[in-house]
Amino acid sequence: MRDFDTAFSEYKSMTEARLEELLPEDGSELEVYKAMRYSLLSGGKRVRAALCLASCEACGGRAGEALDAACALEMVHTYSLIHDDLPCMDDDDMRRGRPSCHKAFGEATALLAGDALLTFAFRTLSGLPNAGECVKLLSEASGFGGMIGGQELDLLFEEQGASSEELDSMHALKTGALIRAAAALGAACAKADEVRKKALEEYALAVGLAFQITDDVLDAVSTDEELGKPTGSDERGGKTTYFSLCGEGQSLERAKALTEKALAAYKTAFGDEGFLPSLALNLLKRTN
Ligand code: IPE
Ligand code: IPE
Ligand code: MG
Ligand code: MG
Ligand code: MG
Repeated sequence: MRDFDTAFSEYKSMTEARLEELLPEDGSELEVYKAMRYSLLSGGKRVRAALCLASCEACGGRAGEALDAACALEMVHTYSLIHDDLPCMDDDDMRRGRPSCHKAFGEATALLAGDALLTFAFRTLSGLPNAGECVKLLSEASGFGGMIGGQELDLLFEEQGASSEELDSMHALKTGALIRAAAALGAACAKADEVRKKALEEYALAVGLAFQITDDVLDAVSTDEELGKPTGSDERGGKTTYFSLCGEGQSLERAKALTEKALAAYKTAFGDEGFLPSLALNLLKRTN
């Protein structure tokens, strides 16, 4: 079996090569197209793509069968980051180590680039043999019942604060929903059975919650250089986070407990070994 780092870099390079094919440099003269490429092909850990491709393989499929789903996930994710950085949302000037899309292209073009990445994600899914199922999974995860609903709660909690239970519900939507969809899309492309789908869903939900807790901790304790985005953004924006509610130590404990939960869920259908348990553990230790 490939080691974790090799597998991750293979998932990442196959995703990036396919994204380049789908949105080639000479694909359009439009400014909005340049902005789409600027944000989509500017680094990014590609966690959602890797999760999707690895879930497909864990369920007996070939990574190639889920590649367009992985690309669609990264498009939706990038769109969410472009809009998240806008002045009307988190108002952040840096993303993935360079000026945010609206700083580089202006607000109107950034707004359109986000919209265009969202629609192009579904155009990309439309070519898959199980397109209907994939469209349903990704639209539910990214829409009002998923990521968008979570982003609304995030803004609401700026004004009125939140309990840790309310934060859990917000994290499950704004970050967890897309991470869950990544696993679900991979499983769907491998035509996985219900037992495997359920195990992956539980695994990904716990990983998604841990991922956002770690993101909130890094926002408070890391540096702009290391993170590639402005630290202290949550405090400036008056966000309630695990970090602001209970500090670094308890937040990290909670992320660790969620990771244990993810590993236990995975084990029910797949055993102890594999890329996905290593991914969960590595995300806990991430520095950006
Ligand atoms: C950042 O996601 C936004 C959150 C949901 C916390 P990532 O940390 O995966 O961002 P990139 O894709 O690596 O830039
Ligand atoms: C963003 O959460 C979640 C999204 C749906 C984009 P954050 O606002 O914490 O993400 P960063 O820290 O800006 O990447
Ligand atoms: Mg935000
Ligand atoms: Mg933000
Ligand atoms: Mg953050």
